[in-house]
Amino acid sequence: MNNLIKLVDESLEKFLPVETPEDLFKSMRYTVLLEGKRLRPVLCLEVCRCLGGKLEDALPTACAIEMLHAQTLIHDDLPCMDNDDFRRGKPSNHKVFGEATAVLAGDALISFAPQVILRNSKNLPADVLLQVLDDFFTSAGARGVIAGQVVDIESEGHPETHSAEKLDFIHDHKTGDLFRLAIVSGARIAGADCEKIAEMREFAHNFGLAFQIADDILDVVSDFETMGKTLGKDAQSGKLTYVSMFGLNNAKCKLTCLLEKCDVIINKYNSEILREIVKGIRKRVGI
Ligand code: IPE
Ligand code: IPE
Ligand code: MG
Ligand code: MG
Ligand code: MG
Repeated sequence: MNNLIKLVDESLEKFLPVETPEDLFKSMRYTVLLEGKRLRPVLCLEVCRCLGGKLEDALPTACAIEMLHAQTLIHDDLPCMDNDDFRRGKPSNHKVFGEATAVLAGDALISFAPQVILRNSKNLPADVLLQVLDDFFTSAGARGVIAGQVVDIESEGHPETHSAEKLDFIHDHKTGDLFRLAIVSGARIAGADCEKIAEMREFAHNFGLAFQIADDILDVVSDFETMGKTLGKDAQSGKLTYVSMFGLNNAKCKLTCLLEKCDVIINKYNSEILREIVKGIRKRVGI
């Protein structure tokens, strides 16, 4: 796991050098290069390896997905969104560079990231490259993360509009879509057949939902030092979360059930890293 994280960190640095205007690139690099768990790129690389692909073929896509993730974090923290002053243990992007530059750095990453894939994936067959890019644009846009974020924001402070269906929609898009992109792209780059891709899509669906439920739980039970962000804010701002809808214990039960479904799929593969990632969620939440 640590070797893959190191590879991702070095490659992010290489794919995103400082260019002009310096302030813009510094702002883009700030959130991308801050220490994060790197779960999405590691999942992309490890799934590719498990299905017989080469790490170097998936590396540009893995890094581009981490850049897109950083974009979602930058925009998610803005005052007009979740209004969070800390991210990855440091002041949020807009606290360092100002709101205008943070908005523009996020915008810039949305088109910079797929270009990293396009310019560095020389070994990928054209049909795979096109499919990976199509998935990327879907996940990044109005049918992906942005759909989830809009409904998340619209639901905030309006408990009369909350429902279990809406909650699943929000979580599946705002968080599930990037995990699905990472995992399915890893499979596509390995040249996986439709059946394997469908299996990985199922794993990603369960994992993405589990991950956001864990994040909802941790917002209640964890602390700043562990998470690197201000907690307790979901309840304060009236967010629709698994905890607000079903209570802490039911959220933990749902999480346990989803992680068991993840186990069933990953146990078919010889991957210490996939097991470690699922175990990491259980450990953080204490289940
Ligand atoms: C944070 O994602 C945003 C959510 C989907 C909850 P991570 O918890 O993966 O954040 P980093 O990348 O480790 O900072
Ligand atoms: C995560 O939602 C989704 C995105 C960042 C797109 P949250 O708003 O719960 O994430 P945190 O808690 O700020 O990391
Ligand atoms: Mg949010
Ligand atoms: Mg947030
Ligand atoms: Mg959260």
